[in-house]
Amino acid sequence: MSDKPAILVTRKLPDAVEDRLRRDYDVRLNPDDRLYTADEMIAAASDADGILPCHTEQFSAEVIGRLPDSIQVIANFSIGFDHVDLEAAKARGIIVTNTPDVLSDATAEIAILLILGAARRAAEGERLVRSREWRDWSPSFMVGTQVTGKRLGIIGMGRVGQVTARRGRGFEMAIHYNDVRPLEAENQLGAIYHDKLEDMLPHCDFLAIHCVATPETHHLLNRERFALLPDGAIVVNAARGSIVDDEALIEALKSGKLAAAGLDVYNNEPDIHAAYRELPNTFLLPHIGSATHETRDAMGFRALDNLDAVFAGREPRDRVA
Ligand code: DGY
Repeated sequence: MSDKPAILVTRKLPDAVEDRLRRDYDVRLNPDDRLYTADEMIAAASDADGILPCHTEQFSAEVIGRLPDSIQVIANFSIGFDHVDLEAAKARGIIVTNTPDVLSDATAEIAILLILGAARRAAEGERLVRSREWRDWSPSFMVGTQVTGKRLGIIGMGRVGQVTARRGRGFEMAIHYNDVRPLEAENQLGAIYHDKLEDMLPHCDFLAIHCVATPETHHLLNRERFALLPDGAIVVNAARGSIVDDEALIEALKSGKLAAAGLDVYNNEPDIHAAYRELPNTFLLPHIGSATHETRDAMGFRALDNLDAVFAGREPRDRVA
């Protein structure tokens, strides 16, 4: 028997991360990247000391209650931890960690791609070229919304939101933001703080969602709040689908209240609301905010640093419970 801690890894991770796992742990990998059912995951975790999951595994109170007593830590390969019932983990004495910081640049890149793709009708254009339906050029063909110089509202000015703001400034955008508290003066860089979301929305030609998914932010963007945006505004979401009420967003896209939406995250992924696929004014990506080689390696190493700390008896850097 190995004297190294036993770790269940629920998904296929980058090679360099799996190499380090093999070196330092008695590791149970998932080379086929098959999605475990809750029962399979609990069985695979038998006698393990820790689990390194992704946001694709749900740790409800019921699942946490059935984990083996040997589990000391859930070291997530994700910044988001809305898939883990933190109170249930705390109640069982299980440490929970995430991977902040390392995915801010990659996720902000996707937020900017969503802004540009939605504003400049990239999905429609791409389809036309691929399907050979593109006929000619005309002054009225595929006219979209200009991004440069517009007002960008950011909900959640954490690490990712701040990078999106910096990239937005590259397009000479005026930055507005809403969060529970304003940034330190040296980090404001001219951004305008609104302590109430309702006060910010009328100032947003573009609205980027970067807040954390919690019970408080569930369906934060609902019918009433979409109505507060200027006509023709564009909404992008690179955070979590649950922050948006799908029916309200779809209604606003259909009525023309919103010009477009760019979405990388959804309620009930990957079985998303069918209307998003049907609407011409949506630009849709499959939850790839952090999907770069550099960032996925960094996320894995950050999760491993957290595991190493727990098994060395130190406080992990990214403890969320
Ligand atoms: C995250 O890190 O939360 C990303 O959404 C991928 O899980």
